[in-house]
Amino acid sequence: MFLDLLSRPLRSLRLSVTDRCNLRCQYCMPEEEYVWLPRKDILTLEEASRLVDIFAELGVSKVRLTGGEPLVRRDVAVLAGMIARNPRIEDLAITTNGVLLAEAAQALYDAGLHRVTVSLDTLRPDRFRALTRRDSHEKVLNGIKAAQQVGFKGLKIDSVIMRGVNEDELVDLLEFCKQIGAEVRFIEYMDVGGATLWSMDKVFSRAEILEALTRQYGRIEPVVEAGWAPADRFVLPDGTVFGIIASTTTPFCRTCDRSRLTADGTWYLCLYAQRGIDLRTPLRAGASKAELMSTIVSGWTGRSDRGAEERHELRFRDALVSAEGLRQDPHLEMHTRGG
Ligand code: GTP
Ligand code: 5AD
Ligand code: SF4
Repeated sequence: MFLDLLSRPLRSLRLSVTDRCNLRCQYCMPEEEYVWLPRKDILTLEEASRLVDIFAELGVSKVRLTGGEPLVRRDVAVLAGMIARNPRIEDLAITTNGVLLAEAAQALYDAGLHRVTVSLDTLRPDRFRALTRRDSHEKVLNGIKAAQQVGFKGLKIDSVIMRGVNEDELVDLLEFCKQIGAEVRFIEYMDVGGATLWSMDKVFSRAEILEALTRQYGRIEPVVEAGWAPADRFVLPDGTVFGIIASTTTPFCRTCDRSRLTADGTWYLCLYAQRGIDLRTPLRAGASKAELMSTIVSGWTGRSDRGAEERHELRFRDALVSAEGLRQDPHLEMHTRGG
């Protein structure tokens, strides 16, 4: 097992299959125009799956397909099948906005991908439109239904909670998830690349989330578990479990075993990293497996990133990157890194 400089294992890979998205969420893609990765740089399925196999040989056992929106890449189920065939990959999942999930669910399931997380920030169609600039709320709800019908277990719903936007829906979202048997995770608005409208006063914090839910439900207990997941889990008096991902006010860098591979084969060791490691160029230049492995191992064993903690230590916090900075290097975008 390869450990980084803070003893964190190389174990979990978030594989972004496209930087494109069919929504324009305020917290992620609020600008009018975006600079996309050049098409010629996007890894083919074979290239992506070759890299995943190499990561797997070095200890990665968890892979999560991300985007942009992964399902806008039509052949993503084929890629899922290629990855699922690798016996070293014990957990293959996808994070999707759900818009195209009703169409894709069966093929993903049949390909061997068995865990889905859907982003859903509101139960109100008008609010969904304001938040995402698209009219796809019903499609997302149908996508969630389809995923359950197909047989996906352990469905999770990710809700980014923003002050003045949807903090009044905490209870509704929780009740909705309870009803459909999904686990909701409330996510603090993060000051990542892409979040050009971010400011601290829009963050609805973990403490505020817990306070609001305690007012409604009574005593909330933490679920005691030693894990590497970003979510802290809690249980309501009636046994309902939910999570909070508090990377803004309570960063969890010390237990972060995740790295990210963008759709053009750039490998990032942290969500906040300014620079990544280019794996596409050596891959396309015919590098051997041993050469690629050694690049990855030296990247990981030299890793000391704790981006969210460093942001937390700042006295004054503003958006991480300006819109202009993002245009100059789209790799800094959250939608390129895969959330
Ligand atoms: P499992 O634990 O495998 O279920 O997956 P996950 O919770 O890591 O996946 P998901 O895509 O649902 O992640 C939820 C959200 O947590 C992401 O969209 C990010 O907002 C946040 N997140 C995930 N990984 C990191 C990370 O490494 N650093 C930070 N700061 N936030 C992260
Ligand atoms: N803050 C928090 N989460 C974000 N995501 C994207 N941008 C942000 C942000 N600024 C995450 C959300 C969403 C997923 C696709 O990416 O969890 O559900
Ligand atoms: Fe929204 Fe996800 Fe698309 Fe970003 S990548 S705009 S969070 S759906």
